[in-house]
Amino acid sequence: MNVLVLGSGGREHAISWKISQSSQIDKLFIAPGNAGTNQVGTNVDLKPDDFEGIKTFCLEEKIDFVVVGPEGPLVDGIHDFFLADPQLSKVAVIGPNKEAAQLEGSKEFSKKFMKKYNIPTAKYLAVTSDNLDAGIAHLEALKPPYVLKADGLAAGKGVLILDDLNEAKKELRSMIKDGKFGSASSTVVIEEFLSGIELSVFIITDGQSYKILPEAKDYKRIGEGDTGLNTGGMGAVSPVPFANSAFMDKVENQIIIPTVKGLKAEGIDYKGFIFFGLINVKNDPYVIEYNCRMGDPETEVVIPRLKSDILELFEGVATETLSERDVVFDERTVTGVMMVSGGYPDAYEKEKNIQGLNNIFDSIVFHAGTKQDGPTYVTSGGRVLCVTSYGKNQSDALNRTYENVEKINFDKAYYRKDIGFDIPEVE
Ligand code: AMP
Ligand code: GLY
Repeated sequence: MNVLVLGSGGREHAISWKISQSSQIDKLFIAPGNAGTNQVGTNVDLKPDDFEGIKTFCLEEKIDFVVVGPEGPLVDGIHDFFLADPQLSKVAVIGPNKEAAQLEGSKEFSKKFMKKYNIPTAKYLAVTSDNLDAGIAHLEALKPPYVLKADGLAAGKGVLILDDLNEAKKELRSMIKDGKFGSASSTVVIEEFLSGIELSVFIITDGQSYKILPEAKDYKRIGEGDTGLNTGGMGAVSPVPFANSAFMDKVENQIIIPTVKGLKAEGIDYKGFIFFGLINVKNDPYVIEYNCRMGDPETEVVIPRLKSDILELFEGVATETLSERDVVFDERTVTGVMMVSGGYPDAYEKEKNIQGLNNIFDSIVFHAGTKQDGPTYVTSGGRVLCVTSYGKNQSDALNRTYENVEKINFDKAYYRKDIGFDIPEVE
């Protein structure tokens, strides 16, 4: 089989790493990829939003599967583009169509969906310029902190959590009236604040049945102790100790099953991954958000725990035979720590030589923002590398990860030393 993966981060390296191990793979391409993906496949100089360019490439290389890493092309309708073109009818896209991608692309869509199908989530009100006064009154009736979410995609920055009522009112106006997040915030969802610990749960679905992948917890803040600015994610662990079978049964019965059934009832043919961003409120799971793709850096710890052939699963999705496929997971713990460029998520420098990659033997180094410059690897993004390790438990895996992180260096490299700090494993 010939496969094209779209994207260029650690998530795409982890997915490509796994595809490259499949007994069924012939040719693997990644567009545009990074220096790591080029070790397991061949990078192609194409942007994930260049649908025409991707089409030409798929025809030339006789691609069987296009695996879409990031949400952008999905929300922009890459799956629909393939479905509408008779020349592309033999190419299966792993990733939902435009309507289904609204689960991530529109907070209002996802909140309405959850309400309709009784899926536990924070109470909300959707506000536009037409009911801004009602929005202000709603804020006045709520207790702090106030949660304001831009409806559309805002590069992970569209959620504000504010303690002060006046500031919340000001921000609400600025989002709607001044386009603080452009058209993404012409509708704003005001949510009740939920207090608890977050985790990420993933399924892959063919629209009929689903397989639950290992859960993970990521660490979004730049600073230790979960402080400072939000990032794309600074590390992840899987499994999550508090996600025991009683909790995961609730997740499946109250969230996963109603979601898959609800999509079917809406006539939405969902083919791909669903990422449930959950919060554990006193042992009950609530949905904070849906994403229509895998998480990053969660993928870098979830995919290494998948023992089954990933192309078998993709084939199951494409042919609606997922229920017939076996999926087996590694019982070990996997942890990943992100090494980032100093200054990230604010301004940072690039083109720093990366040293030490050849000294890593018992961790997997997934590349995120890297490129190759002759024989050397250099940094090319904020998140640079994810050092991933297996262990018999969380501390074992983390010790191995940190030992190897210390062997890698680039100018102004930074990483969090406390990944896993809030979820010590039960002795
Ligand atoms: P989202 O983009 O919807 O995932 O929101 C970004 C982050 O804001 C989440 O990961 C949570 O940490 C936080 N958050 C979002 N919604 C809520 C809520 N209703 N209550 C508490 N925290 C929230
Ligand atoms: N790690 C969170 C995300 O991928 O959105």
